[in-house]
Amino acid sequence: MSRVDIVEVISGYIPLKRAGRNFKANCPFHHEKTPSFMVSPDRQIYHCFGCGESGNAFKFLMRHERLEFPESVELLARKTGVILPEVHDSSNTGVSISSQLYKINELAALFYENNLYTPAASAARKYLIGRGIKEETAKLFRLGLSLDKWDGLINYLRAKNSALSLMEKAGLVLAKEGGGYYDRFRNRIIFPIFDIKAKVAGFGARVLDNSLPKYVNSPETPVYTKGKCLFGLNFAKDAIRQEDFAVVVEGYLDFIIPYQEGLCNIVASSGTALTEEQIRLLKRYTHNIVMVYDGDSAGQMATLRALDMLIEEGFSVRVAPLPEGFDPDSFVRKHGIVVFKDKVKNAENLFDYKLKVLKSQYNAKEIEGKAKISSEMLPTISKFSHAVLKSEYLKKLADELSINEDALLQEIGKLKDTKPAFPVQGHYAQTKKPINVSPTEKLLIKLMLEEVELIKHVRQHLEPQDFQDKLTAKIVSTMYELSGQGKDINKGVLINHFGDDDILQVVCESVFMPEITEEQREKVVGDCIQRLKSERIKSKKQHLHDQIRDAQRSGDDARLDMLMQEFHLLIKKG
Ligand code: CTP
Ligand code: MN
Repeated sequence: MSRVDIVEVISGYIPLKRAGRNFKANCPFHHEKTPSFMVSPDRQIYHCFGCGESGNAFKFLMRHERLEFPESVELLARKTGVILPEVHDSSNTGVSISSQLYKINELAALFYENNLYTPAASAARKYLIGRGIKEETAKLFRLGLSLDKWDGLINYLRAKNSALSLMEKAGLVLAKEGGGYYDRFRNRIIFPIFDIKAKVAGFGARVLDNSLPKYVNSPETPVYTKGKCLFGLNFAKDAIRQEDFAVVVEGYLDFIIPYQEGLCNIVASSGTALTEEQIRLLKRYTHNIVMVYDGDSAGQMATLRALDMLIEEGFSVRVAPLPEGFDPDSFVRKHGIVVFKDKVKNAENLFDYKLKVLKSQYNAKEIEGKAKISSEMLPTISKFSHAVLKSEYLKKLADELSINEDALLQEIGKLKDTKPAFPVQGHYAQTKKPINVSPTEKLLIKLMLEEVELIKHVRQHLEPQDFQDKLTAKIVSTMYELSGQGKDINKGVLINHFGDDDILQVVCESVFMPEITEEQREKVVGDCIQRLKSERIKSKKQHLHDQIRDAQRSGDDARLDMLMQEFHLLIKKG
């Protein structure tokens, strides 16, 4: 990975200005007017002193492009021409199973796509027209058709030399009881399901009439899990980032029609309630969601309850209910995209919406009703991790129900999981708390990173445990170990060594400690060592002191003797 230069990578995204040995810029991960984002070419890392975000080139790409780690490695490799080893399948074909699946899915998608433009497909084309789908839209989403045959795809893929076992693994064919295989999708409109990089991960397939089942989908495969993908995200991601909110709908058509009409920041959950994985995917692009429900499912408390999870994940959630009997597809076709966009714009926040629904179900003037409504609302309120939001909503609920706020406070205290799993995030970058590590320890790490020889020197004087912080102790012991093996510790080796975010942050903070000139170095190092030693002794003394006190209290004389001896030895040292 030596060809990857962090300055080159980052300057491909934001303008960097030289600042001494480093570069600086306005942080791309939080809003700021004066630059506190630093890039170190020597250490191959970046660190923002404003929001605490830090890491190496991979991490930057992961954050900036919202990629997962393997994707960012791939992207970097492409940018720099580094060839990566692939994860190999055991069946020594030399190509990973995932890429084989993507490849066969692509072949299948092309086959279905072509079918749609053959004479045999006139009914299907008519069906799509009837559903308001323009030809260019069908082409954009690569809609297709599986013909009314048992072996259409099988024959096509066989001719392309695909193995039946691979077709089966991809979920494209099914095994017959008496042996042999048949096409899974027959006589259906095909909706390819793309992953974030527009590779075909699976398929959804709809009948052309009212027969059942309405949809048949790809089964779970190594490249497709229903609850882990958001239909349309690859098309919508830029618009979502730009608008800083996502419209979430349920069905394929509910995505396609609004998108075709010009609402492009939209994704479909494919008929399930949003899963945590889907939410994590979305989180790369926005923290704001507008749910658009079918008119008939809107009243369902269960669906609303599922949204509490979004609050917990730091999302701001609003709800736009449609009139009874409409889904986003039929609503847009009947009333037009402008009216639909208006609905989205005027979506109510989850709190108000849920309260309204509850008030229509229970009588808020009666004691029973008040209790029912508040017990439904409190779990939602408890999911807000921000104390201000929580208390404001409690106040509001007390107001709306004309009840005593203290009573609500008592009730919310009884709920088990009022503690949020994630902090509230106003912006996509999570502002990190600074990690409280002593500047002396960080400075010493910085100096050791700059001069490998120093590691040996420090090692003669300090044990990793002399570093009081667990994180720095771990960093130092790793440095000792690597230097002991004669390994080069420069150039981000250390950063690549740690997957732990907190450690990464400490390394990065260390690197950006103030510069020490050549002449001052020796003295500073000596001072740091001295200081850490005396701090270790001090804390040991404190610890012993506590133990001695306990031993005295419990009257354990033997132990007391031993501890006192230790104590005197320590005093001699210090
Ligand atoms: N779905 C599914 N399997 C089914 C029914 C539904 O996977 N048997 C998923 C599909 O992703 C579908 C979504 O749930 O798009 C919503 O289902 P539904 O509202 O029933 O269908 P619509 O998308 O509205 O389809 P259409 O308008 O064509 O009836
Ligand atoms: Mn529909």
